[in-house]
Amino acid sequence: MTPPRSRDGSAGAGRGGGRPGGGRGGAGQGGRPGPRGGPTGAGAGGRGDRPQRGSSGTTKKSQPTRVPQERKEPDVDMHDPDGIRLQKLLAAAGVGSRRVCENLISAGRVEVDGHTVRELGVRIRPDQTVHVDGVKVQLDETRVYFAFNKPLNVVTTMSDELGRINIGDYVKDRTDRLFHVGRLDSDTEGLLLLTNDGELAHRLQHPQYGVLKTYLAQIRGPVPRDMGRQLREGVQLEDGPASVDSFRVVDSQPGKALVEVVLHEGRKHIVRRLLDAVGHPVISLVRVQVGPIHLGDTKPGKMRKLTKDEVGKLYTAAGL
Ligand code: URA
Repeated sequence: MTPPRSRDGSAGAGRGGGRPGGGRGGAGQGGRPGPRGGPTGAGAGGRGDRPQRGSSGTTKKSQPTRVPQERKEPDVDMHDPDGIRLQKLLAAAGVGSRRVCENLISAGRVEVDGHTVRELGVRIRPDQTVHVDGVKVQLDETRVYFAFNKPLNVVTTMSDELGRINIGDYVKDRTDRLFHVGRLDSDTEGLLLLTNDGELAHRLQHPQYGVLKTYLAQIRGPVPRDMGRQLREGVQLEDGPASVDSFRVVDSQPGKALVEVVLHEGRKHIVRRLLDAVGHPVISLVRVQVGPIHLGDTKPGKMRKLTKDEVGKLYTAAGL
């Protein structure tokens, strides 16, 4: 069965309903800054590292705001006659009107390839890297970013030899070569990012970059008091130790509970295996947040284009 499509190429299947009493929302945290103990290249450039409180009440590292620490004058040619005026590119990228972009430049809030630019005559190429207030602006209009709500019983592949419904069925009409960022089990629903931006996709799913993913799991209750501590401290799985970044009980009723699990791990079935290991197998699982992106009220089988602001925040979360 092929899901029906809307004109923008997104699917309109709408299979699977919302989760009863689901209260989707997530931890309200962004991803972590830069790679965890990894190469500093991704986070280089004087990023801040403010502590931030997540919904679970635990203190987490925040999305960094990329604050230029020292103003460098351009030592590269930014007057390429074939280039495009910086304010025009910024406006085309949705940063604001040309006037607003000119003011941002004059105020020293725009960097090109790591250099603060204050001059309005600057012309650049779209392949140069631009940050406004430390947040990367995607100038390449061929790059696309979507939040998809994967329904239950859809496999996370772009095609399937066995004819099972897969992500490819939902984007068949699009001409750009989209791929999914990471995977969700067939019996997990929720937020799956789709993009054609390979570097960002790689960083978002690689645990080294520490981008947090938030899940709501329904489990059998009651939840023992020390379950959060156990999960935070780590449990032994068959492929090594694993831990969560945060855990909280969202709702507890006789016999069942809804818990929020936040982690930067990407191993297969990780949430199910973690909750199994502490004696509370998952009954149902929904991913509600990846880094700064919330599932929100996107219905199962539907996708929405990320805003410029969300894309900028994703870049920051991935240390770009
Ligand atoms: N962890 C799981 O167990 N399943 C998923 O689909 C995602 C994370």
